[in-house]
Amino acid sequence: MTVAQCRLVDLPGSVDDRGRLAFVEPPDTIPFEIGRVYYLFDIPPGKERGAHGHRDLQQLMIAVSGSFSVTLDDGKERKSFHLSRPDQGLYISKMIWRDLSNFSEDAVCLVLASERYSEDDYFRSYEDFYREATS
Ligand code: TYD
Repeated sequence: MTVAQCRLVDLPGSVDDRGRLAFVEPPDTIPFEIGRVYYLFDIPPGKERGAHGHRDLQQLMIAVSGSFSVTLDDGKERKSFHLSRPDQGLYISKMIWRDLSNFSEDAVCLVLASERYSEDDYFRSYEDFYREATS
């Protein structure tokens, strides 16, 4: 898969005088069933997350609060996104390396993932990821 297949998705929702609501409902908003939800929060200033790739996992990443940057890399091309809107998600396909940085103090990164947690799905070494991604 390539970073060209990763994209920002505008989330459908509702707005009225009580505020706003956004939702994610497969298969319209994302091309996978949700197998797991996790979120990153209380990230100390200057700290970075991610720094890994996934073999099979697909994800939708949402800045439900605050903002942060995500750099995606497929072994050939890199692309950076700045997430700052709760009504927008970043779809990340399989076989993508991701680095998360530039977290604001109030950042909450919500992740909808296609599979349950499995350490076997991770590439923790960029060298291993690069070899597999470019083979
Ligand atoms: P990791 O994926 O390295 O975090 P990040 O993507 O934010 O950099 O996960 C950090 C730790 O949390 C690691 O020990 C694995 C564990 N973990 C789970 O047990 N379940 C999960 O769903 C996730 C995402 C992580």
